[in-house]
Amino acid sequence: MSDRYAVFGNPIAHSRSPAIHAAFAAATGEDLRYEALLAPVDGFAAAIAQFAAAGGRGANVTVPFKEEACRLSHRLSERAAQAGAVNTLTFRDGEIFGDNTDGTGLVRDLVDNLAFPLAGRRILLLGAGGAARGVVAPLLAARPASLHIANRNADKGRALAVSFADIAPLTAGSFAELAGKSFDLVINATSASLAGENLPLPDGLFAPGALAYDMMYGQGATPFLQLARTRGAARGADGLGMLVEQAAEAFYVWRGRRPETAPVLAELRRQLSP
Ligand code: ATR
Repeated sequence: MSDRYAVFGNPIAHSRSPAIHAAFAAATGEDLRYEALLAPVDGFAAAIAQFAAAGGRGANVTVPFKEEACRLSHRLSERAAQAGAVNTLTFRDGEIFGDNTDGTGLVRDLVDNLAFPLAGRRILLLGAGGAARGVVAPLLAARPASLHIANRNADKGRALAVSFADIAPLTAGSFAELAGKSFDLVINATSASLAGENLPLPDGLFAPGALAYDMMYGQGATPFLQLARTRGAARGADGLGMLVEQAAEAFYVWRGRRPETAPVLAELRRQLSP
């Protein structure tokens, strides 16, 4: 029987992870089955326990369960502990091992797929929620010239910066405090677009040649990427590449095989093209 994996979230119906992992399995010859499972908002732990007891080998975790998955894990990878969130669970010998491949996925998309090396770059991270927290340490590990966090609630942004200050110096503040600053890379990790709102980005935020990166994706340019273009960003990229790269890293955690991501990303891009 094929090894079983699943992604748990709420909602989950539109998850692309089953298609991505099916493509990885086909390309590598790994014998596995991967499905999308809806967990009740107050029933995540029970859903995971049931899946593991039924022989599940591992699971991905998405909104809104990543912090709970972290608490549920008996052991954590260093990157999951730093993120305080888990998107990849492995069930082994009655234990749950928690890992987080989101930040690695983002960095790999930036550096490998988009050919945007991070060393020496000035990076601005917008947002201070779970999505932002998950990528701070991997971004710092890529040795940028600076990392600045801007958040609507500036105190929350500053608290996030303080919690990573032992890795490398980083700064934080409000959106208003961005006036007069410019960056080579601006990453949107807020959920503003879900609320139908635009971020208050000042003129001059994007340095010449700057890349705007939205961790969200959808059909066509996201609201953030449209806004970034009007503010002078030279390039834009959505989070589809990060989605595929975090999946590839999870596949590696589980199977010890690194699938090729380019064909899978190209196929997803084709499906999403308007
Ligand atoms: P996630 O896990 O996706 O990061 P979250 O923890 O709820 O979700 O965080 C959402 C992030 O989007 C936060 O940084 C939030 O800013 P606040 O901390 O000030 O709430 C940000 N956000 C949500 N709606 C926003 C809006 N309309 N404008 C600016 N930032 C917004």
